[in-house]
Amino acid sequence: MEVRNALVTGANRGLGAAIADALAGQGIRVWRGVRDGVRTAHDVRLDVRDADSVTAAVRHILDEDGRVDILVNNAGVTDGRQAPATADLEVAARVWDTNVLGAWRCAQAVLPGMRAAGYGRIVNVSSTLGSLGLMDRPSEPAYRVSKAALNALTRVLAAELTGTGVLVNAASPGWVRTDMSPSATRGPAEGADTPVWLATLPDDGPTGGFFRDREPLAW
Ligand SMILES: NC(=O)c1ccc[n+]([C@@H]2O[C@H](COP(=O)([O-])OP(=O)(O)OC[C@H]3O[C@@H](n4cnc5c(N)ncnc54)[C@H](OP(=O)(O)O)[C@@H]3O)[C@@H](O)[C@H]2O)c1
Repeated sequence: MEVRNALVTGANRGLGAAIADALAGQGIRVWRGVRDGVRTAHDVRLDVRDADSVTAAVRHILDEDGRVDILVNNAGVTDGRQAPATADLEVAARVWDTNVLGAWRCAQAVLPGMRAAGYGRIVNVSSTLGSLGLMDRPSEPAYRVSKAALNALTRVLAAELTGTGVLVNAASPGWVRTDMSPSATRGPAEGADTPVWLATLPDDGPTGGFFRDREPLAW
């Protein structure tokens, strides 16, 4: 099937903007989810913490294009300098609502159309910090817990969708220079490579996996 479009959440800056640019460079019509500051006809207002906003954004794309072929759940926040024993749980709840439930809301909104089309690619932008196997430091505890949960969401969605033509995978972009990680050495375009690869997988591509630099990463 000819892939026509993609929705990228948090696409106004950082990694999301780089993912959107790379997909557009492949001739895919990209809808850029932005919380505010809609600037172009293909910006769509989308706050992943707001269920009505998610529903309205997906309805708008369906009205325009008839389907959503690719969803990249990129929008994310971190709790930064917290320690697990003393973490502010209201902050943790916001991180959870964005990184886990936000991705889940968006997936639920696009999945009926993807199932009907027999085609879909969902990429959850996770993090190496969410790898249980590598979780030997206490930093950014709410972020780590949320990305481990996002990985679990990836697995259960992929299990449910086996055989439907919808592939669901998680990606670690590596440590990427953005507002979230200003001192990182990797540029956004390099960080976008694995999410974009997963967003454009062929029909026999993997599902239910966790990848960094296009290679499987320990859960
Ligand atoms: N940078 C890294 O080293 C790194 C490493 C591993 C994983 N990641 C992941 O990569 C993704 C992008 O991060 P980044 O580095 O590009 O960070 P960033 O520069 O801080 O950008 C975060 C993006 O998420 C959006 N966002 C936050 N809350 C949102 C909400 N409720 N609804 C919609 N959009 C929301 C932001 O929109 P606003 O502009 O409106 O705030 C912004 O576009 C995140 O999921 C992050 O966890 C990053």
